[in-house]
Amino acid sequence: MSKVISIANFKGGVGKTTSCVNIAAGLAKAGKRVLLLDMDAQHNLTQSFGVSADTLTDVTTTYRLLTGSDFAPHQIAENLFIIPSDLDLIKAEIELVSEFRREYILDRILKPVKADFDFILIDCPPSLGLLTVNAFVASDLIFTPIEAEYLSLKGFSILSEALDKIGIEIDRVFISKFDGRKILNQSVKDNVLSALGEKAFKTVIRSNVALAEAPTKGQSIFDYAPRSNGATDYQLLTNEILKTYE
Ligand SMILES: Nc1ncnc2c1ncn2[C@@H]1O[C@H](COP(=O)(O)OP(=O)(O)OP(=O)(O)O)[C@@H](O)[C@H]1O
Ligand SMILES: [Mg+2]
Repeated sequence: MSKVISIANFKGGVGKTTSCVNIAAGLAKAGKRVLLLDMDAQHNLTQSFGVSADTLTDVTTTYRLLTGSDFAPHQIAENLFIIPSDLDLIKAEIELVSEFRREYILDRILKPVKADFDFILIDCPPSLGLLTVNAFVASDLIFTPIEAEYLSLKGFSILSEALDKIGIEIDRVFISKFDGRKILNQSVKDNVLSALGEKAFKTVIRSNVALAEAPTKGQSIFDYAPRSNGATDYQLLTNEILKTYE
């Protein structure tokens, strides 16, 4: 059964895009057919693969897809495809407001193509606007990366509460950018893992410079630095996802 997964958090810079890139690459490496959807006008996900929507004239961008163009993804690697984004996506929040059942636009678009992929991963922007709501409505699962910091934990509680109001639930949380040398990181990690229990993935993504460097080469961590801690951690997270949801 194919699964649509949103990677989301209101908070910026927590590792949403990095996780999207490397979970998708991990799943593709495991032989799964994966589609990435860049739902952020900042288009960091698109940039992370060294792709530019400007040069891909026969490919649909997220903005064009949401405004009626045919589904035409770009193939990045074996088993790995992307609907890239660009700054045009900023216009979507405004233009789609008057659409009928505007929260269901993406859901309607993905329904007929969903079966072509084992996993569709959506990289959400750090806000709860119409684009994120569309991603949530189209998703089977929502994963939230959080940093092991006090305010991240607070932010996560607010996110859960806000989503609860609109009947949406976060399925799994995982800790990202973890620095074991920081005592605060250690204690927040312990709190998160014990408070969330089953809702937290056991894998913790450590802070690792190779993860920040890989996008400069347009590569996933598995191609850029296969022996790094980043590659080890995203491999473990991928395995955990496959074990839980396949
Ligand atoms: N585990 C990690 N170790 C080291 N650096 C990381 C790690 N994860 C992410 N980064 C770096 O932290 C920054 C923010 O990460 P990323 O872009 O993935 O976050 P984001 O949640 O998608 O941000 P935004 O909210 O802006 O979309 C980037 O420079 C990225 O390279
Ligand atoms: Mg991002």
